[in-house]
Amino acid sequence: MNNTRTADSVLSEKDFKFICEFVYENTGIVLSEGKREMVYRRLSQIVRERKFDSFTQYCQLLRTNPKSEMTYFVNAITTNLTSFFRESHHFEFLTRTELPQLLKNNSNKRIRIWSSASSTGEEPYSIAMTVMDFMADKLSSWDVKILATDIDSNVLAKASDGIYLDKNNIMPIATKKRFFSTGTAQNKERIRAKQNIKDLITFKQLNLLHEWPMKGPFDVIFCRNVVIYFDKETQNDLFSRFHQLLSPGGLLILGHSENLGKCQEYFETVGRTVFRKV
Ligand SMILES: C[S@@+](CC[C@H](N)C(=O)[O-])C[C@H]1O[C@@H](n2cnc3c(N)ncnc32)[C@H](O)[C@@H]1O
Repeated sequence: MNNTRTADSVLSEKDFKFICEFVYENTGIVLSEGKREMVYRRLSQIVRERKFDSFTQYCQLLRTNPKSEMTYFVNAITTNLTSFFRESHHFEFLTRTELPQLLKNNSNKRIRIWSSASSTGEEPYSIAMTVMDFMADKLSSWDVKILATDIDSNVLAKASDGIYLDKNNIMPIATKKRFFSTGTAQNKERIRAKQNIKDLITFKQLNLLHEWPMKGPFDVIFCRNVVIYFDKETQNDLFSRFHQLLSPGGLLILGHSENLGKCQEYFETVGRTVFRKV
């Protein structure tokens, strides 16, 4: 029997199949059989917290009134793992190659960077710190903006608060001191992004599957560790939309285990999972 059970609740085959279809249609995320336990855990929490009698009753609500539940459901189902300067070679690429070129070539003194699945904000803040470090005194005479979007409204709220627990001391102390106010006597690990890096970033909720309101062009698009959850068709569609929104010679940066598949022909590989529009 494939049903996942606890003493008081059952995620039936039929409900699991419905959840997989619902998630795919609304987020593009493909849930395989291997994700059954994860789905079970996350939905159990909703069913318990919202006092539904069963998974079946909750699925019925999703069928009949999906809009009312979408935010809560999507926030529960997404995986938001991220960290400051994750895949640090991407930020080194910005410093060594891309930002010097943009300063040289962008005669309009405008730079636009999009973090398209920004989760709790560590990625856009890392981009902002890299830009501020590199541009320093030039920043005031340039128009630099970082757009950070995600489908999940909870992670966006956390990102725009800019408050983190720096448990593992991942950031170099000098970087942390420069860009964050550090903890209080009661909570030494708590750090808060300073206003100057917050000012560079705009946070907005956006489902990558839906229409995008922004016109671009973007000089750099980060789309890291999200297409891994999508199927090839969704990936190809996204890559060609990113291609359209990039400026000539703009960069698309993917996560460590992601690739462009058949859209590779529209890009040149210029670094580890770093692709330039051709
Ligand atoms: C694993 S995190 C990656 C965070 C960051 N890019 C990184 O590499 O550290 C994946 C993020 O993609 C978001 N996501 C999933 N499906 C999405 C969609 N259809 N549109 C926009 N964001 C989505 C999730 O909410 C989650 O925050």
